[in-house]
Amino acid sequence: MARTLNLHLKIWRQPGPQAEGWFQEIEAPEIPETASFLEMLDIVNQKLISTTGDPVVFDHDCREGICGTCGMVINGIPHGPQGGTTTCQLHMRTFHDGDTIWVEPFRASAFPVIKDLMVDRTGFDRIMAAGGFVSVRTGSAQDANALPISKEVADSAMDAAECIGCGACVASCKNASAMLFTAAKAGQFNMLPQGQPEKHRRVLGMVKAMDDAGFGNCTNQYECEAACPKRIGIRWISKLNRDYTVAVVHSALLAPLTKGAGDGAG
Ligand code: FES
Repeated sequence: MARTLNLHLKIWRQPGPQAEGWFQEIEAPEIPETASFLEMLDIVNQKLISTTGDPVVFDHDCREGICGTCGMVINGIPHGPQGGTTTCQLHMRTFHDGDTIWVEPFRASAFPVIKDLMVDRTGFDRIMAAGGFVSVRTGSAQDANALPISKEVADSAMDAAECIGCGACVASCKNASAMLFTAAKAGQFNMLPQGQPEKHRRVLGMVKAMDDAGFGNCTNQYECEAACPKRIGIRWISKLNRDYTVAVVHSALLAPLTKGAGDGAG
């Protein structure tokens, strides 16, 4: 029979974006160790619904570690203590009977709290809208070998594409920087031939959107890499910085010359 845990929870409650928040102390007895962290919150919420009528609000969707929707700071660590794991894939067997568990939202001014543990991550959407795509005609299937891509390059692009956009990188960083997210999302396209035509525009647009959204600067703290549930490496930030430098030089020096040449020819 599965072991059960008696837990003391201190959960951040905040009625709305402008309201003051506080830690609500909640006893959570007889939690199965086989439950996921979100299932533990489901159990707690069932009790809250039948008593106070005010369940804890939190984000979730796939509960399979792939959508990036879930996210909370558990005992001071985004997604909890296990490492390389999303909150929905964190199981209660990670904890011990009698533990006190602190649960907070991802904290960053660019991620304002909507309610309790739910934050507004639309800043990430605006970064993606500024260049996280390739413009291609998708009308028909291509020949398999029409655009050869080496396995090394394909694997590397897939490493970056593993980013699920959860925001743990932002929540872990003392600057609330979104550089790891932006770098992974730009890098997954910049690695591939299909991403080359829009590469400069992509990098400049995504970095500007990141700054406009209010995320902080990267000062090489490496906390993002440690907190990332998909273990995206900070080497992608180095690549983004290189690509950004090239894009700035290109737009400042080469683009006017190209435009002039084009104007003359026209
Ligand atoms: S709910 Fe989708 S990654 Fe956790």
